[in-house]
Amino acid sequence: MQLVNGFSKLSRAKKLAWLKEQANLSVGTMKILEDHLHRDAATQAVYGDLSENSVSNFYLPLGLAPNFLINGKLMILPMVTEESSVVAAASSAAKFWALHGGFHSSVTGNTRVGQVHFTWSGTPAELQRIFETNRERLLQSVRPLTRRMEQRGGGIRSMEIRPADRGLPGYYQLFVTFNTADAMGANFINSVLERLALEFTQIMEFSGTGGEFEVVMSILSNYTPESIVQCYVEGETRIFEKVGSGLSARQFADKFRKAVDIAIHDPYRAVTHNKGIFNGIDAVTIATGNDFRAVEACGHAYASRNGKYESLSRVELSEDSFRFTLEVPLAVGTVGGLTGTHPMAAASLEILGNPSSGELMEVIAAAGLANHFNALRSLVTSGIQKGHMKMHLGNMLRQLGASKEESEMVSLYFADHTLSYAEVAMYLDSIRHQNQQQ
Ligand code: MEV
Repeated sequence: MQLVNGFSKLSRAKKLAWLKEQANLSVGTMKILEDHLHRDAATQAVYGDLSENSVSNFYLPLGLAPNFLINGKLMILPMVTEESSVVAAASSAAKFWALHGGFHSSVTGNTRVGQVHFTWSGTPAELQRIFETNRERLLQSVRPLTRRMEQRGGGIRSMEIRPADRGLPGYYQLFVTFNTADAMGANFINSVLERLALEFTQIMEFSGTGGEFEVVMSILSNYTPESIVQCYVEGETRIFEKVGSGLSARQFADKFRKAVDIAIHDPYRAVTHNKGIFNGIDAVTIATGNDFRAVEACGHAYASRNGKYESLSRVELSEDSFRFTLEVPLAVGTVGGLTGTHPMAAASLEILGNPSSGELMEVIAAAGLANHFNALRSLVTSGIQKGHMKMHLGNMLRQLGASKEESEMVSLYFADHTLSYAEVAMYLDSIRHQNQQQ
């Protein structure tokens, strides 16, 4: 393989020709790349422009999870995921809780954060004095950028100098908090920070103190512990009467609480436990065109806020009542960014009734709690593999090119046999062999 210059400037056809030669791709693979282009050229241009060097599209299914009763309103959730059991799990939990009061979701804060990281060789007192004297000038310098956001109810909420970290002498930050109305606000925040950094540099250069001031970088923080949503489901423990696996309702509730307690104490378990929450969170986050990497990074940092990585959920169990709560930071938007450019993101938002960013936070948290509830319900009863493998079986059969008749026979056989790809392939072979001999 050779280094390539100016790759991004090549046409799509030339990029593909280069790829075919360099990666020695088969005719079949080249056809797959072509076949996954959108039939409508204008729509394809929208997808192609989302990222650099795109040569095709990578599909993921958009699934629907109906029966979500959230704050008394029945909703259908759009979910984009590659994990076959996620939509089924969300739908199953949604239906269960719709019959028992639904999800109660509320936003307790919606503050975003940005930082200008800089070094200063003078004294902290001098820095603070110059900053305070010029606070209004700094704010005025970004007014052309914040004016429209202010009209929508957002803007800068606070601005302060945070002192040098003891491990990094001379390092400070301008710590700015924002409300970004219904936008996720990353571009807005970064533009404001870069402008503030420029103005602050000028102020410090002409401060006459002789101190050295250097901006290292200006960037939003994806850690938003003040952009929090809480979501819970609750009911009398007797609602778990039919949970199965020989457990009484009370035994199930106890075991469920133990499962959550384990994830509060053990980080190895907590990561998988929280991953089950993000199965739902990510799927709706992606469907609505939001930044799932930011949501994940922030959620996991929040899970470590007590000094140890732990469960994002809690169970409260009393004599006969059960409450299951998720608390998670979510910085998502319903205007701007991909929400406006990706046709499917716009469709997802319409499916949700074009929510505000706060309402979307409430919905996403409910999706997370639903998937989480279903995962724990399976884990403490039948085990996870039963449901998972049923979903996988369909995928395996498709991969193995099984006919409808063959699929039915295989499904019947594996209803009470342990499932694995090798076993399914072997069983399918044996059916085909038998059929050939008949
Ligand atoms: C699988 O995608 C998610 C689970 O592992 C979550 C959990 O263990 O709680 C089932």
